[in-house]
Amino acid sequence: MAAHQRRHYGLEPDPVTEVQVTFGATEGLAAALLALVGAGDEVLALDPAYDSYAPIVRLAGGRMRPIPLEPPGWRLGEVEAGPAARVLLLNSPHNPTGRVLDDGELERLARLCRERDLIAITDEVYEHLVYDGRHVPLATLPEMWERTLTVSSLGKTHSLTGWKVGWVTGPADLVERVRGVKQFLSFAGGTPLQHAAAVGLELDPAPLAVALRAKRDRLAAGLRTAGFETLPSAGTYFLNATFGDADATQLCQALPHEAGVAAIPLSAFSERPALRPIARFAFCKREQVLDEAIERLRKWKAGSGSTRPRRRGAEVWTPV
Ligand SMILES: Cc1ncc(COP(=O)(O)O)c(C=O)c1O
Repeated sequence: MAAHQRRHYGLEPDPVTEVQVTFGATEGLAAALLALVGAGDEVLALDPAYDSYAPIVRLAGGRMRPIPLEPPGWRLGEVEAGPAARVLLLNSPHNPTGRVLDDGELERLARLCRERDLIAITDEVYEHLVYDGRHVPLATLPEMWERTLTVSSLGKTHSLTGWKVGWVTGPADLVERVRGVKQFLSFAGGTPLQHAAAVGLELDPAPLAVALRAKRDRLAAGLRTAGFETLPSAGTYFLNATFGDADATQLCQALPHEAGVAAIPLSAFSERPALRPIARFAFCKREQVLDEAIERLRKWKAGSGSTRPRRRGAEVWTPV
């Protein structure tokens, strides 16, 4: 893991004191937040946000302060930190939007950390799944290594989500605090898999990104032929789309029943009303599966064209 950080980013973490292996990124993020966030502390995080962040911040007694990403381009909006701000929790490449922050946006966030003396926790699980632009770890910006915990995992880069091998790298004093919490979460985990992970991390991640870029484009083109409007996605597994002015929560409840296709509404990742029409589709599937999904959505649109599904029973939505 130390060698991976050196090879890809020129960072030089000490493998003994500046790297902590975790049960996936999920445990790394939880341990870092539980270690660094106390009662009343504010955690700044991009909004929409991956759904594990807010519950852990609440568990630690803290609260989230959203930094909006603005659709359709998902650029960084207004960044404000309250007096209780302690931590910036940054996820880029970003789930659920697929946005990869650019150098100017990263510098804005780094400046905030330096000025307000914030510690950054960065969730970089999609670091190698970038199709447009490039991924730059926040820890590589000036004066950021000493205040940043970088979290990643094998899950996305090698399509090994079930292995749950993740890691946290950063300065020894911060990693020690993560280790202090991790000790009582799981102590250790997946040790045989860690040996395989070490081999996997030597492999070139580029071929997977090339394949996923083509799948992103395939799904985007297909969704448009089925009447959806797609938003840009520069990385991750995800592509967002709207269907007319349909409410995405209702749409996503209806689609499995009506079309046999599942998507997730952005209301699962954000409370902002502006994001209500947007649904997240995943393109990390076999080509045949993507083609079948597109075909089903086209038929669904041709058959019902329903944008206002009606409720029948507790859970089931049927075509109008
Ligand atoms: C943004 C983000 N962070 C963390 C994770 C979890 O990573 P892991 O499987 O390594 O625990 C995911 C998985 O979906 C994710 O999308």
